[in-house]
Amino acid sequence: MIEKIAQIRLQAFREFEEAKSLQEAEAARNKYLGRKGAIADLFRHMPGIPPEERPEAGEALNRLRAELEVVAETAREKFAQKKEAPQIDTTLPGRMPHLGALHPLTIVTRQIIDIFRQMGFAVASGPEIETVYYNFDALNTPPWHPSRDESATLYLPNGFVLRTETSPVQIRVMEAMQPPVRIIAPGRVYRRDRPDATHSPMFHQVEGLYVDEGVTMADLKGTLVAFYRTLFGEQTAVRFRPHFFPFTEPSAEVDITCLFCAGKGCRICKEAGWIEMGGSGMVDPNVLDGVGYDSEKYTGWACGLGIERVAMFLYGIDNIRSLYDGDVRFLRQFI
Ligand code: DAH
Repeated sequence: MIEKIAQIRLQAFREFEEAKSLQEAEAARNKYLGRKGAIADLFRHMPGIPPEERPEAGEALNRLRAELEVVAETAREKFAQKKEAPQIDTTLPGRMPHLGALHPLTIVTRQIIDIFRQMGFAVASGPEIETVYYNFDALNTPPWHPSRDESATLYLPNGFVLRTETSPVQIRVMEAMQPPVRIIAPGRVYRRDRPDATHSPMFHQVEGLYVDEGVTMADLKGTLVAFYRTLFGEQTAVRFRPHFFPFTEPSAEVDITCLFCAGKGCRICKEAGWIEMGGSGMVDPNVLDGVGYDSEKYTGWACGLGIERVAMFLYGIDNIRSLYDGDVRFLRQFI
């Protein structure tokens, strides 16, 4: 009897250990601990063994039953747990990953580039730390011009300047290639401005330059009208208002009809009906001669515009600082 018990014990332990599922573990439990199982069977055979062996056999059998109950329970828990975990509630709404968004200045810059690209313009760039020559002299800026003043321009101790406009890229491009030249140059510019709702000591401009034989002011007007209409909508009117820039002659400031009141006059355009967008003009012959172009043969137009102004106007942003704060609650809106 004792031997039989030991044999069943080994067999039962192995079966519980090898069980691979809850069903197999339950089957083992039934086989050994069930009402008609092996243990019950042995108990039933008790009366048939010699009386002197009974106490020892009974004790061994009780111990085995207790052991197997623990083993069976452990196996059941193991598989029950496996089945329940991982506890995923598939009815919960998903958690959105935080996707980045393009900065409004990036969006607008790309739009501007796209429009000019379609008209055959290439994208050029130049350094933000410029020489006085490229920033002023080569652009025909007279020595007395107020933009050269230290109160307007950020001079570096080594004599360089933080470029005050993207116009020096005109010079760098013309020095590097022969006409026809058809480029735009987006980038950062710096001025000694006190920050307020519409001013920042750093902001962005896009320069445009077109030089070839026979380029006229009609090309300038046609191109900018097409550009502003694509950017702001077909209803947009463009106005060229005489002005002075050192590197163009004649020069004009470019206004467009206010998007918000369609030119009737409102708070945004300060009742003018027009919004100033940038400067433009026919490239001054002095500038062409300065880069070695024959100003008798070639003519060209140039233009410049502020990217912040466009973004603020398009998106109705009333404080330029919102564009630099890096506040994701603001930036998240421009997806
Ligand atoms: N550079 C000028 C500014 O920053 C803008 C400008 C005016 C650019 C006329 C031009 C131009 O290319 O032709 O105020």
